[in-house]
Amino acid sequence: MRNSSYVSACLLAMSLFAAGCSRTEEDARIERLLSQMTLQEKIGQMNQLSVAGLTPDMEAAVRNGAAGSILNEVNPEIINEYQRIAMEESRLGIPLLVARDIIHGFRTVFPIPLGMASTFDPELVRYGARLTAQEATASGIRWTFSPMVDVSRDARWGRIAESSGEDTYLNAVMGASMVRGYQGDCSDSTSLAACVKHFVGYGASESGRDYNSTYIPPRALRNVYLPPFEAAVKAGAMTLMTSFNDNDGVPGTGNAFLLKDVLRDEWGFDGFVVTDWASAAEMIQHGFARDGKDAASIALNSGVDMDMMSHVFTAHLEELVASGAVKEKDIDNAVRNILRIKSRLGLFDNPYVDVDRAAEVQYNDSIMDAAYRTALESAILLRNEGVLPVDISRVRRILVTGPMADAPHDQMGTWTFDGQKECTVTPLVAIREMYGDDVEVIYEPGLTYSREFSQRGIAAAVAAARKADVILAFMGEEAILSGEAHCLADITLKGDQRKMIAALAATGKPLVLTVMAGRPLVLDEESRVADAILFSFHPGTMGGPAIADLLFGKAVPSGKLPATFPAASGQVPCYYSHNNTGRPFRGTETMLYDIPREASQTSLGNTSYMLDCGFYPLYPFGYGLSYTEFGYSAPVLDRQEYSPDDVIRVTFTLTNTGRYAATEVAQLYVRDLVGSSARPVKELKGFRRISLAPGESGEYTFELPVQDLAFYGLDMTRKVEPGDFHLWVAGDSVSGEPVSFSVVAD
Ligand code: NOJ
Repeated sequence: MRNSSYVSACLLAMSLFAAGCSRTEEDARIERLLSQMTLQEKIGQMNQLSVAGLTPDMEAAVRNGAAGSILNEVNPEIINEYQRIAMEESRLGIPLLVARDIIHGFRTVFPIPLGMASTFDPELVRYGARLTAQEATASGIRWTFSPMVDVSRDARWGRIAESSGEDTYLNAVMGASMVRGYQGDCSDSTSLAACVKHFVGYGASESGRDYNSTYIPPRALRNVYLPPFEAAVKAGAMTLMTSFNDNDGVPGTGNAFLLKDVLRDEWGFDGFVVTDWASAAEMIQHGFARDGKDAASIALNSGVDMDMMSHVFTAHLEELVASGAVKEKDIDNAVRNILRIKSRLGLFDNPYVDVDRAAEVQYNDSIMDAAYRTALESAILLRNEGVLPVDISRVRRILVTGPMADAPHDQMGTWTFDGQKECTVTPLVAIREMYGDDVEVIYEPGLTYSREFSQRGIAAAVAAARKADVILAFMGEEAILSGEAHCLADITLKGDQRKMIAALAATGKPLVLTVMAGRPLVLDEESRVADAILFSFHPGTMGGPAIADLLFGKAVPSGKLPATFPAASGQVPCYYSHNNTGRPFRGTETMLYDIPREASQTSLGNTSYMLDCGFYPLYPFGYGLSYTEFGYSAPVLDRQEYSPDDVIRVTFTLTNTGRYAATEVAQLYVRDLVGSSARPVKELKGFRRISLAPGESGEYTFELPVQDLAFYGLDMTRKVEPGDFHLWVAGDSVSGEPVSFSVVAD
């Protein structure tokens, strides 16, 4: 198929991008290629198209150099063919960048990102992302649209599932780990370019309704929403995606301040910026662009390099250059950014994939084990009245029930285009496999899916429960209830699940709930009637074995909440790191689990309180029980006073005072008591997982650079403000006694 007129250009491109060249050589080569490109070819590189198989239109687009990237194709043979067309039949032989939404695993599905965050184990998350990259690149995919680091404080928003939750620091740490994992050291063809998204503020969509506007003022933008993006960029993220939302009237795809001043000038980002799907054209609906031409001009001039599926660049950029509304030098810059990433990924050397490799890496032992460990570490024990772990030697009949007990598709969660449900192990399958020979495992689902209403189903489950020694009820949300465009106004369990739980509890049999969901839920009723609650953000392929091992004590829960669990849907957005207000609630945290159900109190002295659901959430950020108990000593600081360039050494003793070997996530929180602008009541500044045998104790140190206390205050510059601080080390965001220290000016 090689046409001689393509050959010289193709060979030129191949030779320009020989492996292992230095950055200067790389730049020189990109310049040489750029000088060969027509304006149309440049614009083609800035265009991303969604493909489904080999189609004449798409083949022609690639052949004509009208696409720099394709998304949504995962068949390695088809990908190879598109690459062949690009390399051999397009005039300049520039390889394609092949993308896919690989959000929490490709074939082997890991827990949803919110679940990964609840491990508080960035190294495990990095490792999982590395293995995911190996699985995906074996199919020819070299770019994923992950991590999403949108700080998400509203559980109604379906996309909270894709985030690391409500905390700025946790999103930053997890986002950076994912970037490192996906991209590896970029030395071989297993490097999967990361795309940090959605820039910025999308998680603050008003009322938790997807695509809605946000109103984030500049200080909150700097202090809360931007740091995770900066961390991901500093970790080397090769690409960044703009967001759908308009913040205070400016859509993410048309925000030059963010894309140029902050991203390029302040952070030195040298990758490329892609729009979200059709978000350039959507600026017309926003009322921010008059038409497609205006949208193309705004997006390009705001700093967008690649258009995902709006087609406005290909339709209008040539004309815009001719009229002078867009400068060709800005187009050149965008193309440079794109070619640089293609070069960095080694695509010019070899864009093809060995089609036999996929079978070797998909679902192999290493990745299945990593998926199991992540699911294990991500499960959070919310409540346990002495029923867990289940002692298998003391039961003869177990009832397994509930719509999530055997729902392989649903336990994978949102954004799992490529995970195969046939490879997913459910709790029912795992329990039968582990204990089916020793005890009778009765399976009666009650409800067959999470939104079902069925009195008959409930009656059947209750009848089965009467015969059992313990009820293991698997409730929650189907995958379809969270994710993009899947938002809820009421975040209690759907369908007849609450009725079913009440009916099961009324049998008087020990009731263990495992809740699998894509968001924090309101579990107030459930917390009153269940003897134990294990919460698992949709845990993925290996969720069943992980949950079974936790329920039966082969492993001990260690997950912690990455987002607050509210006491009522009307309490959201609620998050631990709020400001104090001028009239803070002065109740006690014993109210944490004792939420007034009615508006029983009509006055608490004009403080910030809700009559019908109190002040405190049901389960706070950072919370999670174990089968053992941990005792914390008061933290000891190496000094009382620090200068802005010092490092604070915080030492504490942690003791496992219970009967199980277990892992605790020790959390470091700080409060800046007085600032030039009011500061949050607490901010997470560090955490570490510590494993201890029963009775064992150890001394541990956090090292906290004083610079980590810097923030954007009244004058909007980032600095540490001298003054007094409180500091806690505890197992969640509401425990521990503070110690004090001061920061003095240099
Ligand atoms: C829209 C979503 O907002 C974004 O996160 C995703 O990566 C793109 N579609 C591509 O599928």
